[in-house]
Amino acid sequence: MKLFKGNIIYTKNKESFEIMENGFILEENGHVQDIGLDLVEKYPETEVVDYSGHLLIPGFVDLHFHAVQYGNLGIGLDEELLDWLNTYTFKEEEKFSDLPYAESIFKEAIKDIIQSGTTRIVFFSSIHEGATRLLIDLCEKHNLSAYVGKVNMDRNASEGLIESPKASYEITKRLVEETEQAIITPRFVPSCTKDLMTSLGELAQKGYPVQTHISETENEIEWVKSLHPEAKNYLDVYDQCGLVTDRTILAHCVFCTDDEKEVIKYRGAYVAHCPAANFNLTSGIMNVKDYINKGIKVGLGTDVGAGNTPSIRNIIVESIKMSKVNQMMHRDKDVLSFSEAFYLATKGGGSYFGNVGSFEVGYEFDLLVIKPDDLSLSRGINCLEQLQRFVYAGHNDMIIESYCQGKKLKAY
Ligand code: GUN
Ligand code: FE
Repeated sequence: MKLFKGNIIYTKNKESFEIMENGFILEENGHVQDIGLDLVEKYPETEVVDYSGHLLIPGFVDLHFHAVQYGNLGIGLDEELLDWLNTYTFKEEEKFSDLPYAESIFKEAIKDIIQSGTTRIVFFSSIHEGATRLLIDLCEKHNLSAYVGKVNMDRNASEGLIESPKASYEITKRLVEETEQAIITPRFVPSCTKDLMTSLGELAQKGYPVQTHISETENEIEWVKSLHPEAKNYLDVYDQCGLVTDRTILAHCVFCTDDEKEVIKYRGAYVAHCPAANFNLTSGIMNVKDYINKGIKVGLGTDVGAGNTPSIRNIIVESIKMSKVNQMMHRDKDVLSFSEAFYLATKGGGSYFGNVGSFEVGYEFDLLVIKPDDLSLSRGINCLEQLQRFVYAGHNDMIIESYCQGKKLKAY
């Protein structure tokens, strides 16, 4: 049991920040037990971890990251999605049959992810069982809370990445049954036959987590239409296979129709909004406010390597900028606010992991300690302004400590 002292700032709801200067959070067994100004009096014998003058904020949550693409970060982003996959991505992912290579990339990725302030993450690995298990082990070692998906693909990829549907399903089944961190990961409809998706959907119906891509680009949607004329729309292909549940993360959703949004809402699935990737591959402008207004669960994703940064702090900014581009195009005056974007980066995505992303009593204790920059201090700006400065114009060195479930994250 410990008391953490500092300038506490977080979002209970997306409309506004909860701000407590010189406040205390009581942590016990990895959970928030109490929060307030008078906790030293209330818990007199308790050790105080004094971060006075620092911001205490919840850890960031990244709902979509391809760990196997980290070596390609920033490369080849002049292409559109399908050309980028064929030219750069599949070739790189083939290399993950080699475990020492996999380890060298994963270690760099985990270091940079932790240093960026992410405490929870949902990874795509490659098709390889060995690399997937290795990534699960490395995350555990570093106290990074992660779901890790062995990618399923049995069509339309390079030869080295095409599996038999039976083997692909069986490896995934083994992984989800043996490890809590495994997540069912059909790459996207063009990569998976209906036989494969149907067998994975049967697993999903048992309550195991699922992640995939959907409606990222118009070319991809046309391709899915031609592959599945029997389906009502893109989402319907997944839904017919039983892959859309309240444990499903749908990355992108740039072009989903109102019919698709209705089903996403009804099923209780999550949307991973990945604005950096959508800008880089010129995919489209995602209207994230429409999903939020419809009551759909939304979190943020870096989508490395289509995204060019492992930092959710940067993605908060990208998400606000994308909603402003949308506003400039349509003048619907419905821009994502700073508190809304911060909420998506913490409690919005965090709810996929349970009670995560807030300092409400009972929440898991995921904490970032932020040292304000010198100009913030000399100018005497308030806590919210310090947070805005950190998010928009800060750097990773300002994160002096991070905790996940009460344990310090280890970058190395
Ligand atoms: N759609 C299918 N595979 C991928 C991928 O690796 N990255 C992105 N951004 N979209 C995809
Ligand atoms: Fe992706």
